[in-house]
Amino acid sequence: MTTTDLPAADIDALYATHLTTLKQRADTALARGGFDHLLIPSGSLHYQLFDDRDYAYAVNPQFKAWLPLTRVPDSWVVYTPGQRPKVIFHQPFDYWHVVPGAPSGWWVEHFDIHIIRKPEEALALLPGPATRCAMLGEPQSALGEYVPNNPDAVIQYLEYHRAYKTPYEIALMRQAQRLAVPGHRSAEAAFREGKSEFGIHMAYCSAVGQDVGELPYHNIVTLNEHAAVLHYTQLDRSAPDPSRSFLIDAGASFHGYASDITRSYAFDRSSEFQALINAVDVAQIGMGQGVRAGVDYRQLHVNAHLTLMGILKDFGVIKVSPEAALATGVSAAFFPHGLGHPIGLQVHDVAGFAESDRGGKIPRPQGHPYLRMTRVLEPGMVVTIEPGLYFIDMLLQEVKQNGHASSVNWARVEAFRPYGGIRIEDEVHCTEDDPENLTRPAFAEVR
Ligand code: GLY
Ligand code: MN
Ligand code: MN
Repeated sequence: MTTTDLPAADIDALYATHLTTLKQRADTALARGGFDHLLIPSGSLHYQLFDDRDYAYAVNPQFKAWLPLTRVPDSWVVYTPGQRPKVIFHQPFDYWHVVPGAPSGWWVEHFDIHIIRKPEEALALLPGPATRCAMLGEPQSALGEYVPNNPDAVIQYLEYHRAYKTPYEIALMRQAQRLAVPGHRSAEAAFREGKSEFGIHMAYCSAVGQDVGELPYHNIVTLNEHAAVLHYTQLDRSAPDPSRSFLIDAGASFHGYASDITRSYAFDRSSEFQALINAVDVAQIGMGQGVRAGVDYRQLHVNAHLTLMGILKDFGVIKVSPEAALATGVSAAFFPHGLGHPIGLQVHDVAGFAESDRGGKIPRPQGHPYLRMTRVLEPGMVVTIEPGLYFIDMLLQEVKQNGHASSVNWARVEAFRPYGGIRIEDEVHCTEDDPENLTRPAFAEVR
């Protein structure tokens, strides 16, 4: 991976400021929890049951918040307020695997770096006593008397504030968008060539240069009716005949930051299904415009229901008003997931429900059990905006069972059912001013 379009001087300066912010957050978090030191192990490999095969390594997100390092298991960040932070960098002597290269990059000058060759060598470098440390990690990162305690007060504070991305993080997230776009372009081309879901997935991975272990989540690549399975990851090896529609939900990772992008296509560009896609696309851009400081994300979600039902009314799929469709749950049958979620170090980033940096949960609106973001938007937050319309047999059956069959024009449903569904998803950055759509400019750059 490269830092294309990120001049070295800029990234150096952005990182320095990012680190200052992280230290300030850590100072407060430690004070709240009553601890002297912050210890963050990067995590270690996990093995399959009764087997010597490891699962794909997933770095501790608390660790990659500090460092652009996603492949250094058994390493540590150690921070004590007022002191230069330390990285304990595990670089084993190992001729079986590729070992992490020597520490390099824009972060190294900010840390005291200690190379260790065995995980247990970290023990001599950790500050004591262990009881004075907030240690954020998984149980298997325990080392001697250092056992992850994940203090609630510390985690609540750090996670709450992680919603506010630093300019450094925004720069990396823009790059995560750019990395994904060639994949989306290649995937569309593969769809138009009649490739299978598996073939399209391979075209995507090849163009992005990332495989399953590196991508921020499993690609969702669906043809025809499969688009009605929200998290479809089956990847059929043979192509349907014909391929009518294509929905791809796929991102990329850049130094630990995720992008999460969905596009929908009809094979026949003059079809009514393409017209429905176009209507959702226009509506999605409008919804992104709602990502403004002071706006309750729950309201955006409810507004999205009304907008989408307006589209279904225009296309003759529902026979009732958007308000009536929302009130009766008909709307949730066609749009059965949340409008979006926070995104950053994790594709579904933390603290979407956080009431404050001391805890508490902002509830979802009644009848919307899958919404992952209930906070009021503030500058620095990045959320996805991902409206969708689907033709899902199980949910449409429930509409009938619930006595609302007369709200729907079933002949129109039958006409759209073979196409599965539509979703359009971008990342939108809330600023002091107009929202910044992070995704669309990346598509505009790569035609
Ligand atoms: N790719 C999963 C999601 O959109 O939330
Ligand atoms: Mn998403
Ligand atoms: Mn997605």
